[in-house]
Amino acid sequence: MSNDIQYPDHFIERLHLIWGEGFLSPGGPEEVREIVKGLDLSGKVVLDIGFGTGGPAIALARDHHAARVVGTDVESQLYDRASKNVDKAGVKDKVHLRIVEPGPFAFDDESFDVVFSKDSIIHIEDKPALFKEIIRMLRPGGVFVASDWLSSDDEAEKSALDGYRKISHLSFKLATAKEMESALADAGFEGVESRDRNAWYAAACNNEQAQIEGPLKQQLIDSVGEEIYSKWLNVRKGLTEAVNAGGLRPTHLRGIKPTA
Ligand SMILES: C[S@@+](CC[C@H](N)C(=O)[O-])C[C@H]1O[C@@H](n2cnc3c(N)ncnc32)[C@H](O)[C@@H]1O
Repeated sequence: MSNDIQYPDHFIERLHLIWGEGFLSPGGPEEVREIVKGLDLSGKVVLDIGFGTGGPAIALARDHHAARVVGTDVESQLYDRASKNVDKAGVKDKVHLRIVEPGPFAFDDESFDVVFSKDSIIHIEDKPALFKEIIRMLRPGGVFVASDWLSSDDEAEKSALDGYRKISHLSFKLATAKEMESALADAGFEGVESRDRNAWYAAACNNEQAQIEGPLKQQLIDSVGEEIYSKWLNVRKGLTEAVNAGGLRPTHLRGIKPTA
């Protein structure tokens, strides 16, 4: 298990207030719907890489009727919260969570129909190795579908990320859409595509900023204290600037494992 905790309780509290219980990333179940748009998950066995506090895995089981969702994450403190959310959502029989070590997965070859991930791959340094593992675990014809926070490949836009990266406590291994697409193709995926979500998140992020500075301010201070609130407000301003300038580009990714 990773000892390097990036998602302590007080951070989770803040993220749940702006993104909803069970979500450590923006958009909630609606964004999960966008990520899996056009895919029929009913009866499918799905791996969710980076389950966080369980929201996406719950949505896959409850709203998209996956037969089984296996979630992995590396931060053991997330397990209890995610499990409680899974229990509360009534999908305990379908969602199975595991805390794992970063790196290769302990799952058999061809054991998943779909590998899903929401905004977690940003924390994983070796994307080529990850994509090789994902294609190994997918059955032929299986689909990798994810969203991830990527950086612009335009140098000027990218530099807008510097300020945010300096003040955020999170460890980001940012790639561009082109780098992700070519790493997926190199791993053997076909039909590789990416869908930029910067415009969607820019609108949402500005709204979040207004909430944090307005209606949610007192609730946030009551929950985490004035000092953490003030520091976070600063980080969030950096995030909003990076998104508005086009440096940070949430993106949906897909690839299919060839059948032969
Ligand atoms: C931004 S959160 C997203 C969580 C969840 N997918 C969501 O959308 O609410 C990123 C998650 O990735 C997890 N993570 C970091 N490194 C990981 C790794 N190597 N394998 C699996 N999960 C990882 C973190 O612990 C965290 O839960």
